[in-house]
Amino acid sequence: MSTTKEKSIVADISLAPEGHLKIDWVKAHMPVLNRIREQFEKEQPFKGLKVVICLHLEAKTAYLAKVVQAGGAEVTITGSNPLSTQDDVCAALVEDGITVFAKYNPNPAEYKELIIKALETKPDLIIDDGGDLVTILHSERRDLLEGLRGGAEETTTGIVRLKALEKDGTLNFPMVAVNDAFCKYLFDNRYGTGQSVWDGINRTTNLVVAGKTVVVVGYGWCGKGVAMRAKGLGANVIVTEIDAIKAVEAHMDGFAVMPMIEAAKQGDFFVTVTGNRDVIRKEHYEVMKDGAILSNAGHFDVEVNKPELEALSSGKRTVRRNIEEYQLKDGRKFYLLAEGRLVNLAAGDGHPAEIMDMTFALQAMSLKYVNDNYESIGSKVVNVPYELDEQVARFKLESLGAGIDKLTDEQKSYLDSWEEH
Ligand code: ADE
Repeated sequence: MSTTKEKSIVADISLAPEGHLKIDWVKAHMPVLNRIREQFEKEQPFKGLKVVICLHLEAKTAYLAKVVQAGGAEVTITGSNPLSTQDDVCAALVEDGITVFAKYNPNPAEYKELIIKALETKPDLIIDDGGDLVTILHSERRDLLEGLRGGAEETTTGIVRLKALEKDGTLNFPMVAVNDAFCKYLFDNRYGTGQSVWDGINRTTNLVVAGKTVVVVGYGWCGKGVAMRAKGLGANVIVTEIDAIKAVEAHMDGFAVMPMIEAAKQGDFFVTVTGNRDVIRKEHYEVMKDGAILSNAGHFDVEVNKPELEALSSGKRTVRRNIEEYQLKDGRKFYLLAEGRLVNLAAGDGHPAEIMDMTFALQAMSLKYVNDNYESIGSKVVNVPYELDEQVARFKLESLGAGIDKLTDEQKSYLDSWEEH
């Protein structure tokens, strides 16, 4: 049998020591996942099974892979974005017996080839982020569907794609919508994205945010976090929306709300968080201020329309790591961060470990849940069962040393009754 070192494709195995240190650091800040690892070591829920993981390949993800491995699985991992893979982390995983097909900044063809190589291991279970595994399995590589029991999806964008497949009647196996669990979106999307987006922007630009105007495009859970933290940094925050209810919410949260064409004239920093394409496009570039800084935190690099920006430009150059300066034909300059890819992962390390602790605990539990129940679930997109969601919250509270109260019998009967008041 060949070793994981022989099977893997990584940039440089000699980077492993740095990767091990990064994984050790996050592990020390992921108490919920540590408890699940202990359970998995005892119960071996994935004994003899092959699991393919396609996630942003940084240290927290690496630790999740090791937890799944501790549960008895043979794990193969690949990256879910060309710029979010960290080569030292990949090298460390190979040394730890995980097969890795990933490197930082592959070209688009290589990127896809690496994902396909992972799928060619013929997994029993998958963990996906943004639906790349699922899309390939339902299109050009349907031959790899056989034997696949099911999986779990990490993100809003992936769930949109899964629901479209389900509606079409094309979905071939059960997928658990981890993104929609309370312990995911309330914390990861809001506090995780809120902090990591500003970490990415700040470490990349090293510019002040206080007193500037930040335009947050989209007020879903991620947008709420980005706007909240921009306010905390002292920015004047504008929110743009297409949904009237979310727009009222943004207004009541204290933000200016206006159409993008107005906001475009005022913004110093732009952060797109919509999951949709072309939310910043030609008509907006035409009115933006010189020096505007553009970034995206949505899954795909389609939110800031790059071809239209290129068409308006006479040239571009890299002025700092992860900052591309576009020189417009009319003399203005715009700065695009991380090629318009997720700024928090492509120009940072992703969400804080304590947040991914809950998200990845849900992933690990959901993988076990789908493996235990795939036959009865059928080819559907299902939510994480509430008991698992609550279990993650309880483990988290315990790790924080925070207790909560219990209803008394009188309180229970009061809540159950329509007569008592
Ligand atoms: N680290 C690993 N996966 C991530 C995700 N989906 N969002 C933020 N940070 C991450």
